[in-house]
Amino acid sequence: MKSEIKIIRYDVTDSTSERAKQYAKGGEWDGGPTVFIADSQTMGRGRYARKFYSENATGVYLSLLFKPDSTISGTTAIVAHTANSMIKAIEERTKTEIKIKWVNDLILGEKKLGGILIEGGLRADGQGYDYLISGIGVNLFGNSLPHEIRDVATTLEAQTGQKVDKDELTAAFIEHFFEELDGAASADAFDFYRSRLITLGADVIAKSLTEEYEAKATDLLSDYSLLVTLPDGTQKRIFTGEVSVKPKSQVKAKDDND
Ligand code: BTN
Repeated sequence: MKSEIKIIRYDVTDSTSERAKQYAKGGEWDGGPTVFIADSQTMGRGRYARKFYSENATGVYLSLLFKPDSTISGTTAIVAHTANSMIKAIEERTKTEIKIKWVNDLILGEKKLGGILIEGGLRADGQGYDYLISGIGVNLFGNSLPHEIRDVATTLEAQTGQKVDKDELTAAFIEHFFEELDGAASADAFDFYRSRLITLGADVIAKSLTEEYEAKATDLLSDYSLLVTLPDGTQKRIFTGEVSVKPKSQVKAKDDND
């Protein structure tokens, strides 16, 4: 993507994804790539209307607003492209391998380092999107997060001892994202994403609005759906919903008791 990238910065805002959505819908947007960045968010949001902790300027919080081309039919390839772009930007600076928990979590040291939320405006004819917003938050600084999330989330500094330069990291991520956006649906992008998944081969708990079950994650299919095998051998494809990886200790304890 070659057009100029507009950057809109806030010290504090409610949510960069909300700012991007209002901008896209408000008539001011010229359709070019636009990035909304905040030092802190008062109402950072995640999937399933969950809160994303981002009040204390301890991470990078931004949302990319753009018009996807027609090769993008679903949003999961954009989740993957966003994850890939951030992983490259972090790894170029820290030499630390970042993993992914399907579908939208960045993982370091078995804890959540960051998350991605895609929102979109469907075209009136339902064929594709007028705009997409890819929001990403990554915990960078400090050794302790609030109590509620301390057990499940971590920061880059806590895991690597390094304080990265946030502006440099942000610039590198934005460059990877827009420079490589044309290849978001490519086999290379798929392979990169797949190579980082902690979910494959793991015992998982899959949750949707209507059911919850245990299974083994066996493959990632080319549309980024997850193939899982149930204890009775049946296979299921999961397109959305939550898939948590069972901690190894829990799996081992169960095996020992069998
Ligand atoms: C998740 O973990 O479920 C997704 C978290 C996405 C958080 C980012 S931070 C920047 C952008 N603004 C938001 O309100 N959410 C996203």
